Amino acid sequence: MTVDQVLERIRAIRDEAVTEASGAADADALEQVKVRFLGRKSELIAVLRGLRDLDPAARGRVGQEGNAAKTAIQDALTARADAVGSGPAEAAEDPTLPGVRPPVGHAHLISSTLDRLLDVFHGMGFSVARGPDVEDDYHNFEALNMPEDHPARDAQDTFFFSDRTLLRTHTSPVQIRVMETTPPPIRMVFPGRVYRRETPDATHSSEFHQLEILYVDRGVTMRDLKGALTYFAHQLFGDDLPVRFRPSYFPFVEPGAEVDIGCFGCRGTGCRICGQSGWIEILGSGMVHPSVFRHVGYDPEEVTGYAAGMGIERIAMLRHGVPDIRLFYENDVRFLTQF
Ligand code: DAH
Repeated sequence: MTVDQVLERIRAIRDEAVTEASGAADADALEQVKVRFLGRKSELIAVLRGLRDLDPAARGRVGQEGNAAKTAIQDALTARADAVGSGPAEAAEDPTLPGVRPPVGHAHLISSTLDRLLDVFHGMGFSVARGPDVEDDYHNFEALNMPEDHPARDAQDTFFFSDRTLLRTHTSPVQIRVMETTPPPIRMVFPGRVYRRETPDATHSSEFHQLEILYVDRGVTMRDLKGALTYFAHQLFGDDLPVRFRPSYFPFVEPGAEVDIGCFGCRGTGCRICGQSGWIEILGSGMVHPSVFRHVGYDPEEVTGYAAGMGIERIAMLRHGVPDIRLFYENDVRFLTQF
């Protein structure tokens, strides 16, 4: 290359670099232009490095042109840097682009399921009360007709703080607390968290939620229980499904019954959801035991009542096909955003 051709080449590089610099969209693009034209491996720097091999006359002219080009490119880079700022290209430069929607949270599936349950009971005239998570032996067991040596008190299942203080294993103690302070009639539901010493698996958790139902008045019968709980089951799972009351034992009710709904998966023929039985258990219930009334100072000759309790996670799992109870507590947004 002749000296004139070298000078020509330097000017071409300068022009190209200045054009590229002034067209760079953002700080990243600008940095790329800088590396390409002024970086250690760039052509211009190579030319300037090769100066010493030129004869002295040419060295002066090429050096001058080269340094002038370098300054021009640097100026162009600086000028453009002011214009684009330090961040990435501003999408907002185009005011017609849609805005960025910030992620919005919503109620957790346990909360929305509880809201739905409360809705149904509000519609039947029930109001809501709550009790403490830390309970005493008397309210969690004794007053619920589970005396000292009752097998349901098995220490295996209960978290104790001390001999008499524990984490409630169900929401039934709220029945006692409410009846202790309120004269009948009572038509209330008690939602809350309960605790059990259980090894977690797909259907067990050491912490979960229950909803307790209590209706006490003169002349309440098993018929009222069946009517209310059938209506409730139909509201929640569809009123074309059969509801079945199956005799069962709970110390604080007599008689006691578990309530099943016809399987919505197979409509009774048997499938995986219902374990081939055609029925799905949704809650426990019964007529309040006279001994429970006596503990709270109600006269069992005067009033009768029904009670029921259900697991809120269980209801949510059935309604939404959630396969594992642990999903409720992991706070994985991929799970949470589905509901
Ligand atoms: N407390 C019971 C449990 O945790 C559920 C229950 C059954 C509550 C029958 C009731 C009832 O009020 O009548 O397993």
